[in-house]
Amino acid sequence: MADRHGRTFPYLRLSLTEACNFRCGYCLPDGWRAEGGAGFLTLEEIRRLVGAFAAAGMWKIRLTGGEPTLRRDLTDIIATVAATPGVRRVAMTTNGALLARHLPRWQAAGLTALNVSIDSLDAGRFRRITGHDRHGELLEGIERALAAGLESLKLNAVLLRGLNDDELPAWLDYVRTRALSVRFIELMRTGDNGDCFDRHHLRIDLWEEQLREAGWTLRPRVPGAGPAREYAHPEYAGTIGLIAPYGRDFCAGCNRLRVTARGELRLCLFGEFGVSLRPLLQADDQREALIGRVQELLAGKAASHALHAGRTGLTPHLASIGG
Ligand code: GTP
Ligand code: 5AD
Ligand code: SF4
Repeated sequence: MADRHGRTFPYLRLSLTEACNFRCGYCLPDGWRAEGGAGFLTLEEIRRLVGAFAAAGMWKIRLTGGEPTLRRDLTDIIATVAATPGVRRVAMTTNGALLARHLPRWQAAGLTALNVSIDSLDAGRFRRITGHDRHGELLEGIERALAAGLESLKLNAVLLRGLNDDELPAWLDYVRTRALSVRFIELMRTGDNGDCFDRHHLRIDLWEEQLREAGWTLRPRVPGAGPAREYAHPEYAGTIGLIAPYGRDFCAGCNRLRVTARGELRLCLFGEFGVSLRPLLQADDQREALIGRVQELLAGKAASHALHAGRTGLTPHLASIGG
C-alpha cells in the first residue's frame, strides 16, 4: 500500500468501539453516548477486513477505540487478527483499566505490543484528568505488562498546562529502572475540545529543552517508526518520546491508515472525508474488490493533516477514530 507522496503503509489502526469508560477532559468529558446505536464491526467483518489489508502487505495491526477492552469479544478478535497470514504484530492502545486482570488472556491470544495511557503519576491528578479512580490498578497493570515480556510497551501521557506540566522529573525517575518508552503527546485540537485546548495546550518543545539540559539525546529515527521523537540516556533503562503533531515535518513519516469502529476508512487522523468499507466486508470473495477500493482511495491521501490549516476535519474527538 503506497500513496502519491512516496509513503508506504504497513500499519492499520482498527478501532473496535467508540465507547469508553473514562472521561478524559480533552476527549470524552461527558463519557460516551450511543449515537445511532452501537453497530460496530462484527468479528466476521474484522476477519475479512484484516485478511484483505494483510494480503495487501500490511503486517502491523493496532486495536484502538474508544476503549477496545470494552469489547466482550476482544480475546477472539485478538486471536483472529493474530492468526491472519501476513500479520506479524498485534498491538493495542488502552486506558489500562482492565490490564492487570486480562493481560495474560490477551497475550495468550496473540497480543504482542501494548500502549497504555497514563496522563499523571499522581492519583489525584489522574482522577481530575480522566474522571476515573483506577490509578493504583493501572500502575499495577503496567508492572505486570513489564514482566510479561511483550515485544513493545509504551506509555502515553498528554501534556496539559496546569494539570501535569511539572511532572518530567517524576517521569524520569520512573523510567530510570523500567525498560519502556513514555511518550508525551502535545494536546491536539479536535472538533469538540476547543475550550480545553485553549486552557491546557502547551508546546511539547518546552520539555525537549529540559530533556537536553538533563543529558538526554535524540535517537536517530528508525525507518517505519511511530510519530514520537525518542530520547535516551545511558543511565536510564527507559526512553522518553515526544509526539509533536503540530511540527512541520510530522506527516512526512506517516505510515498508518485507520478504520473506524463502524468500518469507515480514514486516510488521516484529521482527514476531511471517510468512506465506508462495510459493503465490501459481507463475503469472503469481496477481498480483491476491497483491496482495489482502498488502493484507489489511498491515491487521494493528502500530504499532511488539516490541523496545519486550522481545521479538525471529521474528528470531534480522538475516540471517534482511535487516535
Ligand atoms: P505505534 O508506533 O504503533 O506505537 O503508534 P502510536 O505511537 O501512534 O500509538 P498510540 O496509539 O499510542 O498513539 C499515540 C498518539 O499519537 C495518538 O493517539 C495520537 O495522539 C498521536 N498520533 C498517532 N498517529 C498520528 C497521526 O497520524 N497524526 C497525528 N496528528 N497524531 C498521531
Ligand atoms: N490530543 C492529544 N492526545 C490525545 N489523546 C486523546 N485525545 C487527544 C488529544 N486531543 C490520547 C489519549 C491516548 C492516545 C491514544 O491519544 O490520551 O493516550
Ligand atoms: Fe477514553 Fe482514551 Fe478518550 Fe480518555 S483519551 S476518554 S481513555 S478514549
